[in-house]
This record gives sequence, structure tokens and C-alpha cells, in this order.
Amino acid sequence: MDKIQQVQESALQAIQDANDLETLNQVRLQYLSKKGSIQALMSEMKTLPKEEKPEFGSKVNVCKQLVTEAIDAKQQELEEGALFANLENEKIDITLPATQVKLGTVHPLMIIQQEIEHLFIGMGYTIAEGPEVEEDYYNFELANIPKDHPARDMQDTFYIDPNTLLRTHTTAMQMRELEKAKGQAPIKLICPGKVYRRDDDDATHSHQFMQSEGLVVAENITLADLKGTLEHMANAMFGSGRTIRFRPSYFPFTEPSVEVDVSCPFCNGKGCNVCKGSGWIEILGAGMVHPHVLEMNGFDPEKYSGFAFGVGLERVAMLKYGIDDIRNFYINDQRFLKNFDRFD
Ligand code: PHE
Repeated sequence: MDKIQQVQESALQAIQDANDLETLNQVRLQYLSKKGSIQALMSEMKTLPKEEKPEFGSKVNVCKQLVTEAIDAKQQELEEGALFANLENEKIDITLPATQVKLGTVHPLMIIQQEIEHLFIGMGYTIAEGPEVEEDYYNFELANIPKDHPARDMQDTFYIDPNTLLRTHTTAMQMRELEKAKGQAPIKLICPGKVYRRDDDDATHSHQFMQSEGLVVAENITLADLKGTLEHMANAMFGSGRTIRFRPSYFPFTEPSVEVDVSCPFCNGKGCNVCKGSGWIEILGAGMVHPHVLEMNGFDPEKYSGFAFGVGLERVAMLKYGIDDIRNFYINDQRFLKNFDRFD
């Protein structure tokens, strides 16, 4: 009986002293395996007199159970400890600064283009696109600017060959769309895109720039429709309360043609240095589609009329964002471009 007590005490002590799972496993083998000390006690039972056997047997069983439970409990304790130790070791230091992800921003000209697109889509217009390398025919001929027309001097052109050029205005797309419609009205579209003109680049000139053309052809379209539409656009682009005015002008593809001014959004028309004291800022060219243009494209000018306008996107962006050099749009300086993350 003393021996049982001894084995039990030494086992419990060994369990208590075991500080890792490996040692605990050794203790388990030492006491509970077939060759272990508790099994040895069982074997000793054979040598005892018959009347002592039951008590001895039950004591050994109690001892075995106690040791088993103690080992299991210790095992759980050590496993949990190991888990926490692992978690501790693998802890990520979330205070370390992360690698910065640099996001691009929408280009200011694209912001203006998208604003125009949304505005006109809202009024039921569709968006048309066309080639930048254009035929002389669409850029000039169909726009009522034949070969020897002096108006060709208004737009110095990059020619690729005598019949192919880089389009000088989005009006070329207007002509393609008119031709495509085969005399079927109504037409209601805008055509945004890049255009090219031979120019010496400086703060206000660029050999490449962007326009958006607007075109409406239907029955009973008048100059008043053009004015209402452009006034709506001016208010959407430059803030409410803007008024516009028409000044007579000349474009071969519109008659009458107008230059459109918007009341200065910076001084509300009182006169400031942006509008050079006049209270007005010129923003685009427009007019009623020339009857000859309608006719050349298969529309009966007695039945149909239309208006067209062409707005320069750089000009609008420069006014809206206070940019004083057009070259900023094309030199891709991150310090300039990143300012526009607030606007997209
Ligand atoms: N195409 C003209 C330009 O580039 C603008 C314009 C378009 C004028 C449509 C009238 C009508 O200057």
C-alpha cells in the first residue's frame, strides 16, 4: 500500500514539474504505459494474499485514474500555453507604416468631358466617337469648306497626305454622323475628342487640344433652342445664375454663326481680371447648321434645321480650376495632376 502511495506521489510531482509536452509525454510513458510503474503495481498484485487483493486492486485503480486525470489536465494546460506562445510570436506589428499605394487621379480634361457627357446624356443626347486621323472630306469638304476656301486658313492643319489629316475640329465627327443618318432626323448627339492644329505651343496655345461638339437636327429647331441649351450648360459648368450672350461670328458650316460668352463666374459680371473687366468670358463657337451642310448630307433644309456648337475643354478647365498655362494638361507633372483627386 505504501508503494502505491509512493508511486502516486512521485507521479503527481513529475506531472507538476513537467514544463513542456515532451516531458509530460515521458511521464505518461513512465507511469501509464504497459511497462510503466502503475502497471508494475498491478503485476505485484499476484504475489499478495487473496484477502488483500481487492483493496490493493482498487487503490491501484484510483491511483491510475488520478495520474491519468492529472496528466490530461496538465496536457491541456501546456497546449494552451503553447498556443498563446505561438500567437504571441506571430503577432504582427500593425503600427509599422504600410507601403503606400499611389492611386492615379482622373485627368482634369476627362473630368470636364465626363461632366459634359453626363449633362447631355441627361438631356437625351447620345455620344458619338470618330477617328483622329481623318479624311479631308469629313473635316473640311462636308463641313462646307472646299479645297480653296479661305476658311481653311483659320485652322492650320497637320496633313498626312493630301486627303488625310489630323482632324482640326470635332465638327468632322458631326459630318460623319450627319452622313450616317441618311436624312433621318431627329439627331441629338455630342462628340468629344482630341483635335490638332499647327500652332506654336505657349501658355494659351497647344497643337493638341480637346473639344466637344454638340449637334441637334430636327424639325423646328431654332436659335432659341441653342441659346437655352447653352445657358443650361453654362449654369451646370460654372454654377447657377450664369447668363450667356451671343455675338455674331463666322463658321462656314453654320449660318448664322455666333461666338458665345458666359457672364463671368468670378465677379458675377461686374468685371475682374479674369474677364479683363468686361464681365463676360468667351467660351465657345456655335450656330445653326448651314442649309448647304444639311443638303450635302441628304437632309431637306426646308423641313429640317439644326444647331451645333463646339466647346474647347481646356478653356473650360482653365476657367473652372484657375489654371493659367494650357501646357499643364500635357506635360503630366504629378504635382499638377494630383490636385484633381478632389474633383473626380
Ligand atoms: N468647329 C468650330 C471650331 O473648332 C467650333 C464650332 C462647332 C462652331 C460647331 C460652330 C458649330 O472652332
